[in-house]
Amino acid sequence: RTVYVNGEFLPETEAKVSIFDRAFLMADGVYEVTSVLDGKLIDFDGHAVRLERSLNELDIRSPMTKEQLLEIHRELVEMNGIEDGLVYLQITRGAPGDRDFVFPDPETTEPTVVLFTQNKPGLADSPAAKKGMKVISIEDQRWGRRDIKTVQLLYPSMGKMMAKKAGADDAWMVMDGYVTEGTSNNAYYIKGNTIVTRALSNDILHGITRAAVLRFAAEAQMKVEERNFTIEEAQQADEAFITSASSFVMPVVEIDGVPLGDGRPGPKAARLREIYLEESR
Ligand code: PDD
Repeated sequence: RTVYVNGEFLPETEAKVSIFDRAFLMADGVYEVTSVLDGKLIDFDGHAVRLERSLNELDIRSPMTKEQLLEIHRELVEMNGIEDGLVYLQITRGAPGDRDFVFPDPETTEPTVVLFTQNKPGLADSPAAKKGMKVISIEDQRWGRRDIKTVQLLYPSMGKMMAKKAGADDAWMVMDGYVTEGTSNNAYYIKGNTIVTRALSNDILHGITRAAVLRFAAEAQMKVEERNFTIEEAQQADEAFITSASSFVMPVVEIDGVPLGDGRPGPKAARLREIYLEESR
């Protein structure tokens, strides 16, 4: 596989970053994941805009324009022959000469830029979409700026492991009694014709797929309520689902051992998935 590091396209075995890189030492970096279907990038603009916002919030200098970034994405997809898959992009504050809590001078420290592709044949026809996911609930123990897409992913990763150990597929995180989001996705339930999902704030990542799906809700004759909700409320729902760039719309069929409806993926989440895939391809 060919990867991109700081201006160069290289075989992955030759790609290197410094041990002093602040992402390695302090998780001081941000990332984006953009899906590729039929060789085409999905929602690239949304991801580029969010990336810019994450960099701004952390005072990391934006190392390139959106157009340059798009060009690198396209070249990597082409070089690696990706039909269906993902492009991972990471930008860090860079590698000053030493470890220091103080941010390095942006004049003398270049941000580190890394991109690689992940090949996922049949990404849009994942069997999980037909089977549905089981989720458990866990306490949300992440930091308070979840709206910034940092590479600080240890707690979400631990959450995913807690889910696996419990025989589930993912965990919904709960703060002060209300669901924030999944470990790497936004969380929703459907009751009647209404989609309920937490409102945007610093408590959750502002999902690019979320924005698109909520825009398409009207097309599916559905209403949207952006508000706090509890696990108990979601367990009483007709359906539930998650969204992310890597899973699109994925039905949830069980929450903390309680099956939703008949325990099979519901028609409304399936319809939203269909519309999302049609409209964004
Ligand atoms: N995760 N919430 C969290 C905590 C996430 O990490 C993600 C994305 C989302 C969904 O955002 P989007 O629709 O823009 O992908 C919500 C990516 C896919 C990942 O970490 O692999």
